[in-house]
Amino acid sequence: MMNWTRTADAQSRSRGTMTRCFTALIGCWIAFFVSVARAAEKAPLVEGRQGMVVSVNPEASDVGLEILKSGGNAVDATVATALALAVTFPEAGNIGGGGFSMIYPGLGREPVCVEYRETAPAVCQADTFLKMTAQTGSKTAGVPGTVRGLALAHAKFGTKPWRELVLPAVKLARAGFLIDAVLASGLNSMNRSSKEFAEFVRVYSKPDGRDWKAGDRLVQPDLAATLQRLADEGPDAFYKGHIAQQIVDEMRASGGFITLDDLANYQAQVRAPIHGTYRGYDVYGPPPPSSGGTVVVEVLNILEQFDLSKSDRYSPETLHLIVEATKRAYCDRAKYIGDPAFTEIPPHLVSKDYAKKLAAGIKLDRATPSEQLAPEIELTPEGESTTHFSFVDKNGMAVSNTYTLQNSYGSRVVVRGAGFLLNNEMTDFNWRPGKTTRAGRIGTAANLVAPGKRMLSSQSPTLVLKAGKLALVTGSPGGRTIPNTVSSVVLGVTEFGLDVRAAVDAPRWHHQWFPDRVSFERADDPRYAESLQKLRMWGHDVATKGGTQGDAHSIIVKDGLLQGAADARRTVGKAAVY
Ligand code: DON
Repeated sequence: MMNWTRTADAQSRSRGTMTRCFTALIGCWIAFFVSVARAAEKAPLVEGRQGMVVSVNPEASDVGLEILKSGGNAVDATVATALALAVTFPEAGNIGGGGFSMIYPGLGREPVCVEYRETAPAVCQADTFLKMTAQTGSKTAGVPGTVRGLALAHAKFGTKPWRELVLPAVKLARAGFLIDAVLASGLNSMNRSSKEFAEFVRVYSKPDGRDWKAGDRLVQPDLAATLQRLADEGPDAFYKGHIAQQIVDEMRASGGFITLDDLANYQAQVRAPIHGTYRGYDVYGPPPPSSGGTVVVEVLNILEQFDLSKSDRYSPETLHLIVEATKRAYCDRAKYIGDPAFTEIPPHLVSKDYAKKLAAGIKLDRATPSEQLAPEIELTPEGESTTHFSFVDKNGMAVSNTYTLQNSYGSRVVVRGAGFLLNNEMTDFNWRPGKTTRAGRIGTAANLVAPGKRMLSSQSPTLVLKAGKLALVTGSPGGRTIPNTVSSVVLGVTEFGLDVRAAVDAPRWHHQWFPDRVSFERADDPRYAESLQKLRMWGHDVATKGGTQGDAHSIIVKDGLLQGAADARRTVGKAAVY
């Protein structure tokens, strides 16, 4: 094991700064406790023993909780909450997108991943998007996977009738629900910037033509009718029935690619998760076509080679190692990961031996320039929505689910008369073959467009077990930042001993190989004071831009006690419990 604190350089560094640090530390910790207390005021740590649902939206959490209370299991609750979010959180909740569901069936059973990533329509080829710049519109929509994915999880693990799980969403769409200030302002700004998407504006405008405000009721009759069909006819209504026809009619009208055959051929998959270990914990994440599980496990494997406990989470040494590990894992993401049906992905990416080799290449006081990590990739000059929710039921079954429309409100294409948004997930493919840029565009072969191919994802719904027992359920939105947000929560709980509230609230980091730059959430946090200066001295390009990263609604389990934290970064969310 390598240990940076054993080096003479590190020892003299720590002696020299001890006195200054002591005074600074007291100030930092006061500020830290004040800020944690403030966050906790807004978003509490919630406890219970029977069952818990944590999501971005109170109505959707309550829908899942009611399913648990009435005898449904965690998968039943996931289906009901996912469909409720398609009504109450239209920026990311969806039936027109796709995602990944990590399911822990209960004590002694292996977690599985139900993967329902979107696919490229059959007509799409590697050069289809070569000249395209628009990130919205029908052409950016992949074949949706959400309904097949929820149905597959339900068929394998569910206990309640499908219809019973869909009806709460029908009710929310038909009777409407009271919107909060975040949704009101999101709808207002989207309506203003979506003039070319007439159906979007028709469906999401306030009937009296004014701006939405908190407390207004959003009623979605078309969506209610679509969901009612799903309740009555099952998922085939979406892929082979009336809804499929509505999607294809929309494609014809607005120039999209999806056909009836694309929809009829779509299949969700049950896949073996990526499984890693970190200091005695078992970590399970989604396999390709998501890079999430691989990146999280690769980062943890590299960090396990160092003794992080010898220094503070916010010390320059710890942050340096985290950034260097992250950069290497994201480089491998770009080099190797894509749809496994089309791309051979080397299994060693998540091996401990490989992590040792990568760790040995990390200089303890110098950033490795990103381009040195992949000299074979030619760099050319350069000319965010998703939501995560977590469940645990009274029998210890757990689900960690992330699903997405890609950008907020996806392609902005609402299927005419059907009331739901289509994703713009085709933008997750590498559109320009061979063009990888320092600014972060990736053009590697693993993730080029091909007919029927699944686009590379970063979604990382994660389950952590200790001695065979469930310990943590987490995940996040945030595009390429997702694996870093998840690593931050996992390390917070497993390495730094934080409770779930503190692990979720802790400021996060992001480096994604290119651009070769690290950003820190709340970089003005006093705990970073000396560290960022040191990181710059060691050659890191440190960005101090504001903004928040991710939205990690998480649950930890300790001796049978469930502790949940809704992430307050986007809305207050809700950890619903009984
Ligand atoms: O699958 C992915 O990695 C992206 N489509 C996720 C996009 C996302 O998280 C945007 N949300 N904030």
